[in-house]
Amino acid sequence: MKYTLIANLKSYKTLHDLQEWLDVIVHNLSSLSTDKLYLAPPAPYYYLFQDVSQFKLLAQDVSPFPPGSYTGAINVDHLLDFHIQGSLVGHSERRRYFHETDSEVVNKIDLLLDRHLLPIVCLNQDNLRTQIELLDSRQRSHCLFAYEPTSAIGTDHPADPQIISQAFQLIADLTGTQTILYGGSVAPDNVTDYLNLPYFGGFLVGHAILDPLVLVHLVKQLQ
Ligand code: PGA
Repeated sequence: MKYTLIANLKSYKTLHDLQEWLDVIVHNLSSLSTDKLYLAPPAPYYYLFQDVSQFKLLAQDVSPFPPGSYTGAINVDHLLDFHIQGSLVGHSERRRYFHETDSEVVNKIDLLLDRHLLPIVCLNQDNLRTQIELLDSRQRSHCLFAYEPTSAIGTDHPADPQIISQAFQLIADLTGTQTILYGGSVAPDNVTDYLNLPYFGGFLVGHAILDPLVLVHLVKQLQ
């Protein structure tokens, strides 16, 4: 694949639906390159994907604490047991509905990096500069950044590529990264709007890929 594609299943789908979804994907992706395809499934179903070669696995979230007395928390060592390669951090839905704080974001990144897992740090337009300035140099240089304006997430109103271009430039200037993901209502009819932006490295996609054939379509577009 030319670009990274992260498929975020959010809190959708239960076992039966997920098995059907996976069957369609596996059947249709068999002849395509999927080396940069990542799936972030709901945590109870990590086990379903252990032998699926088409995806690298990500967590949608991880505990800001190390293993210990933190009831309900899924920590970095749990991710390692299921061959998860990294985790989303600071997704705007976590910030908005679960009140995730900047200091929790920083803790999660550190715990992931200590275990050699990849933090995919979601940034949005609210205090973008501050969100980055909180990070130290190790964090800035080892995270993959995804820029996702909240107004574009789950709305079917993807962001204006010009606005994304300006945000990418600021993120690149502050972190030194050369590769940034875009997320927010990505779908097959809007991917080409972003492919030529400087620093563009791929997509973080949510609700559109609940239809497995849309995910297959996106993988084909990014070959
Ligand atoms: P969306 O979500 O594609 O449904 O807008 C993006 C995301 O979860 O990052």
